[in-house]
Amino acid sequence: MPITATQLLTGIGGIVALSYAYQILNFIWKYFIRPSNLSKYLHGSEPYAVITGASDGIGKETAKELYRKGFNIIIHGRNEVKVRKVVEEILALPGPSRDVRYFIAPADSAEVDFERIARQYEDLNITLLVNNVGGGRERPDRIDSKNHTDEDLLGDIRLNMLFPFYLTRHFLPILRKHKGPALVAFVGSISAEISIPRLSTYAPCKAFLAQLTRCLNADERWWTPTQISFIHLRVGAVNSNSFREPSTLFVPTAERFSKWVVRALGSGEATFLPYPPHAIQMVGAKFASEGMMEAHAAETMKKQFERNGKKTE
Ligand SMILES: NC(=O)c1ccc[n+]([C@@H]2O[C@H](COP(=O)([O-])OP(=O)(O)OC[C@H]3O[C@@H](n4cnc5c(N)ncnc54)[C@H](OP(=O)(O)O)[C@@H]3O)[C@@H](O)[C@H]2O)c1
Repeated sequence: MPITATQLLTGIGGIVALSYAYQILNFIWKYFIRPSNLSKYLHGSEPYAVITGASDGIGKETAKELYRKGFNIIIHGRNEVKVRKVVEEILALPGPSRDVRYFIAPADSAEVDFERIARQYEDLNITLLVNNVGGGRERPDRIDSKNHTDEDLLGDIRLNMLFPFYLTRHFLPILRKHKGPALVAFVGSISAEISIPRLSTYAPCKAFLAQLTRCLNADERWWTPTQISFIHLRVGAVNSNSFREPSTLFVPTAERFSKWVVRALGSGEATFLPYPPHAIQMVGAKFASEGMMEAHAAETMKKQFERNGKKTE
């Protein structure tokens, strides 16, 4: 019997409705029901988590949250006075007292001795490395502008791409030592997925981290599988020291956001949008054309530069 147009449309409508229902249920499951498996990284004696760029913003709040969850903590920053204050803040948190250490390294410098940094922790049971350090550095000019030097731009690339890459390379042998599950996280940005003007050093570096996560996961899985895994966190707007937008549902405070970051670390996923309202935004973005998204991003950047008193070409 031939299918009528009405039957065909009803069939297509049914499939679309089922697909949406599946996506909504999957969303609820992933963000609100699925238990976190973060505790699997709390094995062995005295497990440690390393968090870079933890003297402020998302890194600082994530370090605090991981301490509350039972990890000993190693934080990284560039300003020793600021970093030591964060160490004191963490140690003052209620609950059982654990070890909190730190190291100082300017992540945009060519002089970082990654081997020396890793060597001082080689006897510790490190099960978690959160590569959080990074920043957009708000450059209002094009890359060929005389307002920045080659060294300035290379600094952006070191900060957002090379520092996490080399730090991971030098910490991996320590993470492998205890032979239990270990996780390396890379804090990315949704700016790597949409075109935003004046982020021509930052956003491509964040795209590198996304692909690096996939390649490193493949490295550990094939031939002799190991218990090391990698997660790429896709971050939207968060109110922090470098992004001083007022906090709203879609721009959470770093404190609120870090709770979701820690939940994401226990998600078992290889790439994840930690904060549910950002996930909703990204679904919405799929319905907009690339041109519309670009125009909106450009307008937002212009306004941000104006607010910060930066002249744009
Ligand atoms: N906030 C957002 O809207 C947003 C959106 C997407 C992705 N992200 C990503 O989230 C991560 C954290 O950002 P955030 O918003 O929390 O920024 P933040 O509040 O500015 O904190 C950045 C941290 O990195 C440190 N840092 C910056 N440059 C450094 C350098 N050259 N050497 C050593 N340490 C350095 C800062 O140290 P000081 O305390 O000394 O400044 C601070 O501890 C970054 O990877 C960023 O790209 C943020």
